[in-house]
Amino acid sequence: MTIIEANGISKSFKSGQKIINVLEKVDLSIKQGEMIAIMGVSGSGKSTLLHILGLLNEPDEGNLIFLGKNIDFSNEKMLAKLRNQHIGFVFQFYSLIGELTVEENIALPAMIAGVKPDKEKLEHLMYLVGLSIDKKHRFPSMLSGGELQRVALARALINNPDLVIADEPTANLDKASSIDIVNNMKQINFQTGQTFIIATHSKEVAQRCKRTLYLSGGKLGEET
Ligand SMILES: Nc1ncnc2c1ncn2[C@@H]1O[C@H](COP(=O)(O)OP(=O)(O)OP(=O)(O)O)[C@@H](O)[C@H]1O
Ligand SMILES: [Mg+2]
Repeated sequence: MTIIEANGISKSFKSGQKIINVLEKVDLSIKQGEMIAIMGVSGSGKSTLLHILGLLNEPDEGNLIFLGKNIDFSNEKMLAKLRNQHIGFVFQFYSLIGELTVEENIALPAMIAGVKPDKEKLEHLMYLVGLSIDKKHRFPSMLSGGELQRVALARALINNPDLVIADEPTANLDKASSIDIVNNMKQINFQTGQTFIIATHSKEVAQRCKRTLYLSGGKLGEET
């Protein structure tokens, strides 16, 4: 099954008088269960592409089919629902809420969906992402970068999303923690069949994905 398909996606931004064409008629088809790395130099448009694939930003041109549905980017209510129920996000700077504990941060997307996750579910997720259970009442300020990113990954998974989008999830971590986290993602991908799309500059991360795509000059290409 194809989980997400992009056809002729273009996106440009104005920079002063200049227009930068970041994505130029990008086509992409991702099957359920894939784990894909997206690489490319800084500024090549990886985040721009992930924001479009994650229904966070509208392309100028082209269409997107997610879970068999053609996405109407003007329907904000539908977009929010699809994001909350079907997509998990992991960002470079974790984006956790400082005033909430580990377990409260993880539970947040479920609370937004109107469901209070049970203890077993929270503990199982913490186990899956490699976070020791005794950290669940800690606040983010009392965790290491690697632990913070594990909390963010567990939060991304709480609503059992079909797709996890991670934008440079290991950019602030050392090599050992980066490999550790991508191995956790790989294990989750293998066990649950959830699809992962990971933008990264790290060869170690890309090597552990099943497929690597490169963004360059507004175009997306397969590994050669
Ligand atoms: N909202 C915006 N407004 C104006 N320009 C933008 C916007 N978002 C991105 N850009 C520009 O689009 C280009 C691509 O940016 P993008 O963040 O997608 O690159 P990237 O590949 O993710 O880079 P990095 O590896 O540094 O994260 C850059 O030139 C950037 O300045
Ligand atoms: Mg980026």
